[in-house]
Amino acid sequence: MRVLSGIQPSGSLHIGNFFGMMRSMIRWQESSELFCFIVNLHALTSVTDGPLLAKNTLDAAMDFLALGLNPDKCRFWVQGDVPEHAELTWVLHNHTSMGLLERSHSYKDKLAKNFTPNHGLFAYPVLMAADILLYQAELVPVGKDQKQHLEITRDIAGSFNHLYGEVFVLPEPGIDEKLATIPGIDGQKMSKSYGNAIDIFLTQQELKKRVMSIVTDAKAVSDVKDPDACNLFAIYSLFVDEEKLSDLRERYLKPGLKYSEVKKELVEIIWNYFAPYREKREELTKRPDDVRDILKSGAEKARQVAGVTMDLVRRKVGLNY
Ligand code: ADP
Ligand code: TRP
Repeated sequence: MRVLSGIQPSGSLHIGNFFGMMRSMIRWQESSELFCFIVNLHALTSVTDGPLLAKNTLDAAMDFLALGLNPDKCRFWVQGDVPEHAELTWVLHNHTSMGLLERSHSYKDKLAKNFTPNHGLFAYPVLMAADILLYQAELVPVGKDQKQHLEITRDIAGSFNHLYGEVFVLPEPGIDEKLATIPGIDGQKMSKSYGNAIDIFLTQQELKKRVMSIVTDAKAVSDVKDPDACNLFAIYSLFVDEEKLSDLRERYLKPGLKYSEVKKELVEIIWNYFAPYREKREELTKRPDDVRDILKSGAEKARQVAGVTMDLVRRKVGLNY
């Protein structure tokens, strides 16, 4: 099966990205034909600092590699290194209605948060559709926030196929409902752009600062607390097994629990969880050129597949003459 997903280098990667998408991608390399890429063209819709985008791109690649992505078991590249992404996007624009894009939740959310929309932001789902359709992906592991983007992709592919015959595979979203939306330290969806993230690779001091600032309710130590309404509990649950979680649940349901103590435990738990990967991450930081080489050879491997689809598309729409 062809499995594909991408991640934006619009900031440091966080535990929402890890549990929502990265971990399942790394698992898929064992049992599927995996396509994994860093979507720097998408990040242009929100990042206008060139050196920062370049740094975040390389950092995101290092994060993936440190966490266990093996470039020999998958295709791993940077979107902007494969020109077919932009080429197919232009073709697909002509099969995308304005209304479909106007209904996009992520576009509407950004407007509500007072982002000044540019055309790139509006057209974002079309570029994402091109990313997916270019490789004829069957399954796209993502967090729940991306579900509508997958629906838009299927709509665009369906309209195109209707006109030109069966060109594109219609992809399915791979969403783990238990991990669909991981909350940030303020209880909203954790996101690079909301300032509420706990990054995967922080110093112990930074990690402590982030975890200690997780927002909890104002209940007193003597009160019984509700684990299911607690943001701290939700984050804690990502890192422990069922047994440890039910112990914590019991502590919530009895008087005496101090949120600050749970937070201190959580700092230790997160620190230890990522410990095996931290050394590899530090080692990769010292050899950025090797990481660039991995990405360049990944882009070549990706282009071989992208080229086949583009040949077919060019023929179908009449760009070959
Ligand atoms: P961000 O919102 O931080 O910019 P992206 O939009 O780049 O993250 O998301 C990259 C991947 O991580 C996507 O598959 C997305 O669904 C997933 N993801 C991001 N944040 C979360 C979250 N809070 N919970 C679950 N999955 C998430
Ligand atoms: N829009 C996705 C996100 O913000 C990133 C993305 C771009 C993507 N192209 C993709 C995800 C293709 C899956 C497949 O998370």
